[in-house]
Amino acid sequence: MTPYEEAFQGKRVLVTGGLGFIGSNLSARLVELGAKVTIVDNMMPRLGGNLFNVKEIMDHIQINFSDVRDEHSMDYLVKDQDFIFHLAGQVNHVDSIRNPIQDLDINCRGTLVLLESCRKYNREVKVIFSGTRGEYGASVKLPVAEDHPTNPKGIYAVTNLSAEKMVLVYDDVHKISGTCLRITNTYGPRHQMAHDEYGVLNWFIRKAIDDELIPVFGDGHILRDFLYVDDLVDCFLQVAAYQAAFGEVFNLGTGIPISFIDLAKKIVEVAGSGKVAFTEFTKERKEVEPGDYYTDISKVRKVVGWTPKTDLNEGLKKTIEFYRKYRKEYWG
Ligand SMILES: NC(=O)c1ccc[n+]([C@@H]2O[C@H](COP(=O)([O-])OP(=O)(O)OC[C@H]3O[C@@H](n4cnc5c(N)ncnc54)[C@H](O)[C@@H]3O)[C@@H](O)[C@H]2O)c1
Repeated sequence: MTPYEEAFQGKRVLVTGGLGFIGSNLSARLVELGAKVTIVDNMMPRLGGNLFNVKEIMDHIQINFSDVRDEHSMDYLVKDQDFIFHLAGQVNHVDSIRNPIQDLDINCRGTLVLLESCRKYNREVKVIFSGTRGEYGASVKLPVAEDHPTNPKGIYAVTNLSAEKMVLVYDDVHKISGTCLRITNTYGPRHQMAHDEYGVLNWFIRKAIDDELIPVFGDGHILRDFLYVDDLVDCFLQVAAYQAAFGEVFNLGTGIPISFIDLAKKIVEVAGSGKVAFTEFTKERKEVEPGDYYTDISKVRKVVGWTPKTDLNEGLKKTIEFYRKYRKEYWG
């Protein structure tokens, strides 16, 4: 074990949103490292909560089916925790446009309830917040570094930016250690695959596995960088284990851009099935599309020493293998 991995041995860790995509991958790794993991998740419909995600670690974790907005639950759950990875959030982009008040309630009020519980009952805990590259909005300079202007294009990203600021205020004012991660598009096993309302790369994979048309919006030339979930999990752990990372904001990505059209072609090549097709942006999607984005990861590399290890081919191969094997648990 590396020193950062040893930091979780015997530690008590709360993972909010732990039945979802990132939270379940993170929880599995924490269990492997000897942490005592409690998950809190409200299994919100149309999000990624899935008990199959934690099937293999079920005997080693505690699950609390609760809501991060529930003050009494959170007051109880934060007690004695060493780390809190805060991943519970309203992440569905389409629902965000249709019901933005829900984003405000879950992403902002939920985060504030959690922080207040920490202020009242556990000021020693370390809070790791998962924000989004969407906090930047349209890029004025590429690659995007942490000092890039933040002009979010949708309420999902506005509420993430606000929640991030709350974590930083509690770090500064109440001395509850908090660090904030602005994450690029992430893909891999244990993502919801039932609909295309968020998680574009995983949706492309479903279409390829089903040997269907992969719908690329517009002319397909928009650029993104895509991070494999195991690399993201490593980064969460590395950041959490490193005291100098607290009070800071970090961009997480690969820094390696690819266009949507090339991505779709690569998926077809790796899967050996599916076809690439162009489709018009829906009006709703067009309105919140920020255009080209890829990440400048020099800060996290320099401060924490993290760097992603999985190249796109390898990540796609592992992801496709996983869903071919467990398709019935995810297709919905
Ligand atoms: N996946 C990505 O590409 C990506 C990129 C940037 C940021 N993020 C952030 O990472 C976090 C996790 O995203 P994910 O991709 O794992 O999504 P996901 O949908 O797979 O997981 C979210 C989980 O949160 C739970 N949840 C939602 N509201 C809750 C509430 N009020 N109380 C308790 N649980 C609640 C859901 O039931 C679900 O299990 C989110 O905050 C998201 O904004 C993800």
